[in-house]
Amino acid sequence: MRPKRLYGDGRGRTAVLACRVMSNEPDSDLSRLAWLAWQVDSGADEAIEERPLNRLAAPRPASGPAPDPRPEAVRPAGLAEPRPGASAPAAQAAPWQAEAPGPASTDAAVASARHMAAEARSIEELRAALLAFDGCALKATATNLCMFDGNPEAKVMIIGEAPGAEEDRKGRPFVGAAGQLLDRMLAPIGLDRQSVYITNLLFWRPPGNRNPTAAEVAACLPFLERQVELVDPSHLMLLGASSVRTLLARREGILKLRGRWAHYQQAGLARPIPAMPTLHPAYLLRQPAQKRLAWRDFLAFAQAFRAGEDPLTAS
Ligand code: URA
Repeated sequence: MRPKRLYGDGRGRTAVLACRVMSNEPDSDLSRLAWLAWQVDSGADEAIEERPLNRLAAPRPASGPAPDPRPEAVRPAGLAEPRPGASAPAAQAAPWQAEAPGPASTDAAVASARHMAAEARSIEELRAALLAFDGCALKATATNLCMFDGNPEAKVMIIGEAPGAEEDRKGRPFVGAAGQLLDRMLAPIGLDRQSVYITNLLFWRPPGNRNPTAAEVAACLPFLERQVELVDPSHLMLLGASSVRTLLARREGILKLRGRWAHYQQAGLARPIPAMPTLHPAYLLRQPAQKRLAWRDFLAFAQAFRAGEDPLTAS
């Protein structure tokens, strides 16, 4: 049996397993299910195909297959040099191995995102636009679009970083362990999913929960900005370094920025929105001693929100 590949991102946050059921492996539906359950128990949270497939690549012209440039010895068994004239699958690379979009394609993606986001007149239209948007490569590896959870009429908007495995499966932000901790922190300040609107910097899961790239953030940002316009919150809570640094255009570390109100501003907003940067619940799960810092931020947030005040201008 060929060894199964089980690997993670080095931080133990995810595992990706690539294997196929080999001919000497179970072949009844039942045993295949047991095999799948074993993989999930082993920590696999993503299915990838045995042979990488670049879904982003343009289809090869009909004139015939490109020769496999690899010497016979390194071609996978069973992938012999195609006979002249025979049709063969296009040369493929995994979506996440696809070349990073260059500046020109990033600019085009951002322009298209801006246009599509501006056209949306409601959160539902914006969601439809995101479903149709092809300018973020993460869409190719994600299972579901993960745009928002909570109430589009809420006055509190919470912005995290990017969906994880559970969010990717369910198509809703903050439904995994970090989301459950977030719920437990919101409850004592009188907030829940009916009274907040929750979204992320990115709307598709980065493979292996890696950090977002600048191109991914740039392509998603117009959709996030449009959400802020449409929801029109009175107060923002920003979770974690990526969200804080991007939205407040700051470079300092999150431990320096957290707990300090700042104004979030973007073109098209009638007024700046007071934003509270705080620690990401996923970080708090790893560093529980830091919860007391986040708790202070939540209390300060609740006080300003309940008073309906902008703490940066209140006298
Ligand atoms: N972490 C985030 O930043 N967002 C989610 O939706 C889940 C985990």
